[in-house]
This record gives sequence, C-alpha cells and structure tokens, in this order.
Amino acid sequence: MAVPDRVLTNHDLEKMVDTSDQWIRERTGMFARRVSDDSTAASDLAFQASEKALAASNVSAEDLDAILVATVSGDYSWPATACILQKKLGAKNAMAFDLSAACSGFVYGLSIAQAYIQSGQYKNILLVGVDLLTKVVDWTDRNTCVLFGDGAGAVVIQPHEEKGVLCSELGADGSAADMLCVRCGGSRVPVTQEALDEKKQFLFMNGREIFRYAVRGMLQSCNKVLERTQKTIDDVSLIIPHQANTRILEAVAQKLGLSLKERFYLNIEKYANTSAATIPIALHESLEEGRLKQGDLAIFVSFGGGLTWGANLVQF
Ligand code: COA
Repeated sequence: MAVPDRVLTNHDLEKMVDTSDQWIRERTGMFARRVSDDSTAASDLAFQASEKALAASNVSAEDLDAILVATVSGDYSWPATACILQKKLGAKNAMAFDLSAACSGFVYGLSIAQAYIQSGQYKNILLVGVDLLTKVVDWTDRNTCVLFGDGAGAVVIQPHEEKGVLCSELGADGSAADMLCVRCGGSRVPVTQEALDEKKQFLFMNGREIFRYAVRGMLQSCNKVLERTQKTIDDVSLIIPHQANTRILEAVAQKLGLSLKERFYLNIEKYANTSAATIPIALHESLEEGRLKQGDLAIFVSFGGGLTWGANLVQF
C-alpha cells in the first residue's frame, strides 16, 4: 500500500468548512485522511504500492504479463494510468489498461484477473486500486470534502491450485449513474468555462440515496458469493469491505448477523474513503496485523459510482 504523508484530520476540516469532528465521526466513522501534494498523481502512488507488491511476491517487473489499474482519478483522461505505471516499473512485457468502476474497481479488477488466470492467458498479473479523489472534491462543499482521502494498494495475482479467488459476483445499475459522478471532462460535457463556473469538474454525490443502495448491493454480493460456492457466512473469517461509511457497514453486518468489530476489517478512521484503494489497503493492514491466516476464507465487498457493486470470495 501507499498513502501520501500529509494527514488531514477532522479538526483541520473544522477550520475549512462548517463541520465538526463529532458530526464526521458519528455520521461516517472517519477521523483522518491522507491528502496528496500538487506534484503527486495516481501513477506515483500506484508505483510505490506496486514496487512493494512485486518485492513481497518475489516477482520482477519484467515477469508481469498484465497490469490492471482500477481508478477514476488517473493521471490523465487518457492514456491509461496503467501504461504510465508500466513505463515507471519497466514492465515491458506487460499489457496494461485501466478499468473504471469507481469504488468497486478493485473487486471488479480481481474478477477480471481471476478470469485471465483461469483461462491460462496470463500468469503474473499486477492489479492496483488507486484514487486521489481529494483532487476532484470541492473543498468548500462540506457534504463531500470530508469523506475522501488518497491512496493506493497493489497485489500480484498468480495461478495456484488451492488458494486464491474462488468466486466473484459483480453488479451494476446505470439508471442511478448520476448519483455519484464528475459532470464534465468527458465527451458529454467537455471542460469549458461555463462547466467550470457551474463547478462540474468536482465530484457530485447524492449521499443519502447512495447509502441505501450501498447496503443492499453489498449484502446481495456477499450472499451471492456464498450461495454460488455453497458456503455459509460462518465459514468466512474476515470481511474486508470498501470503507465508505461505518454506518453502512453496521447495517450490512447486522443483516448478516455478524459483529462488525470482530468480523469486518475497518480502517476508515485513518484513511476515510480512498475509493478503489480501500480494499487493497485494508487487505495489506489486515495481513500485517495477523487478522488473516493460511486457510482462512475472506470476502472483499464493495460498492461505488456507476452504480457498481460486487464481492470476491478469497481462500488464503
Ligand atoms: N458537517 C456537518 N453537517 C453536514 C456535513 C458535514 N460535513 N455534511 C452534511 N451535513 C448536514 C447536511 O447539510 C444536512 O443538514 P440539513 O438537515 O440541515 O439539510 C445534515 O447534515 C444531514 O445530512 P444527511 O445527508 O441526511 O446526512 P447522512 O446521515 O445521510 O450522512 C453521508 C451523509 C454522506 C455521510 C451519508 O449519507 C453517506 O455516507 N452516504 C453514502 C456516501 C458514500 O458512501 N459515497 C461513496 C460511495 S462509494
């Protein structure tokens, strides 16, 4: 994982917008988030996380067949951040592309990597979840600016007879696409002075509506991966969820009949919502803290813009 050094706490935000540490903690579970400086872009954090992932898995950059970068805040609209990362790593034998599934990007990416591995097409895949949404939030809008932080997480995926992704389940509902979006910069509304005056370059969110979709989507995804593999929730040691709001996760845990503290990994307090990076960062920290052992089953589950959602059932 990689996060910027600069820590922005709720107390810092109290000086920037009309908010309070108490409101943010109670409504979201967040306390701090990391914020990049002006010179840092997605490929920089992706590169730091990727180098660590390659070293940890004893794979050289030249061994990589594929680089997948899940992001909605890449260095540029195009070319893909994955191509910029490929150059930085010197991964000259790898194909590279970005995938856009917002906060669900890592779960979507893992499903794609699983399919490539199972088909035998690729043997060494680097998957990165990276987002720097602090670059696209309106720092005068208290509804959104308190919620996001920057970060990256990377994994190397290889074939294995027993371990790995057992099942992935993905979903989407484009009819709610306008609930969480950046409304200019694409071919629908290019960047014009008019669009900038209307603040369309910033992240727009209908938080209250998304909350309800999120609980439903995450719950449905968990249940589907269990059904499809004929497992029960009791077989699962740890759920590593997208970290968007502790109250969303409380609702999911309650509906699954689980204790949030015992069976979910939470680090939202430290990093807030890092979009596609929340799950790989939480995976890294849960491994470091010994929350996952050989033989354990875990669920990665997410929800995000698109709207998109999904889960992976993973055998460790
Ligand atoms: N500080 C203080 N007050 C704030 C605030 C802030 N940072 N942000 C919003 N408020 C205010 C609102 O203006 C509103 O005031 P009003 O009642 O006078 O209009 C009040 O708090 C309640 O707003 P509401 O939207 O009902 O709060 P909520 O309990 O739904 O929490 C979210 C808001 C955004 C935290 C919550 O809806 C959420 O997390 N939604 C999901 C968002 C998400 O996950 N997005 C990413 C998807 S991956």
